[in-house]
Amino acid sequence: MISDALLERIKEKLKGQRKISFLVGAGLSAESGIPTFRGKDGFWVSGSKNYQPEEIGTKAMFDVNAHAVWEWFLFRISMMRDSQPNAGHRALVEMQDLLGDRYALISQNVDGLHFKAGSDENCLFLIHGDLRYMRCSEECSKQLYPIPAEVADQERTRSTKLTFEELQLLVCPKCGEMARPHVLWFDEYYNQSYYRLHDVLRIAKETGLLFVVGTSGATNLPRAIVNNTLARQGIVVDINPNSNYFSEKLSSKKNGFWIQGKSGVVLPRVVEIMKEHL
Ligand code: APR
Repeated sequence: MISDALLERIKEKLKGQRKISFLVGAGLSAESGIPTFRGKDGFWVSGSKNYQPEEIGTKAMFDVNAHAVWEWFLFRISMMRDSQPNAGHRALVEMQDLLGDRYALISQNVDGLHFKAGSDENCLFLIHGDLRYMRCSEECSKQLYPIPAEVADQERTRSTKLTFEELQLLVCPKCGEMARPHVLWFDEYYNQSYYRLHDVLRIAKETGLLFVVGTSGATNLPRAIVNNTLARQGIVVDINPNSNYFSEKLSSKKNGFWIQGKSGVVLPRVVEIMKEHL
């Protein structure tokens, strides 16, 4: 699974002082039963129309059909609520404990499974938001509010509609405008205050060994993170059962590697290596 050449490079980086970071995407949670975005279950039906996540997860769609957007996110929340962390999430927590200050976890996942597994919020950077929270859609402040349990804890299917009472709860407690899920939408930009943009770009520069796990590379901050690590002679290792943007990019770099496998299998193996060689 891990070639001798890669093992030597990992051992060398473990002995150094630079950060060892993980950049993860939806594939990490696939073994917990949560569909990835660009897999075959990623679509959404509203009325008689099929939407791709790229259409439904937008501010433009929220502005014309906030109900449909909330219904999509609340369905995802309901699916996530019943999901449990898998061996990949647990391995990340073990590495956090082994590496201490050298560890950083940059996650695109809004599913809360890092918290259920026991990840420490101080070294966890949620660059696409956190679906436990909502915020004012009119930006009256930057305050985050937990999504009310009366709404978040409901069982939902793909066709569950929002009730009038639920809509009354999905408002900004401060100004009364509609609240929105605390996530980065496709037609929005990364920033520091919600998504830790500058922190993660700095961390990428300080990283000597970066594992990219379960992400297709469709979004631009993950691409910039990988470039920052490569530019400072860091090693980047893609863990993914399928070829993707990163596996292809890394194949032409002397500091790039691809481990073709599932995160729930490969990450526990990385833990063993760390225990042996740190
Ligand atoms: N282990 C590792 N990787 C896996 C596994 C697994 N068990 N199963 C699937 N994958 C890989 C797929 O091969 C794919 O490359 O996970 C990746 C999932 O890709 P996407 O669905 O595009 O998810 P992600 O890269 O996280 O999407 C990025 O786009 O929709 C937005 O904001 C959303 O955070 C999301 C972002």
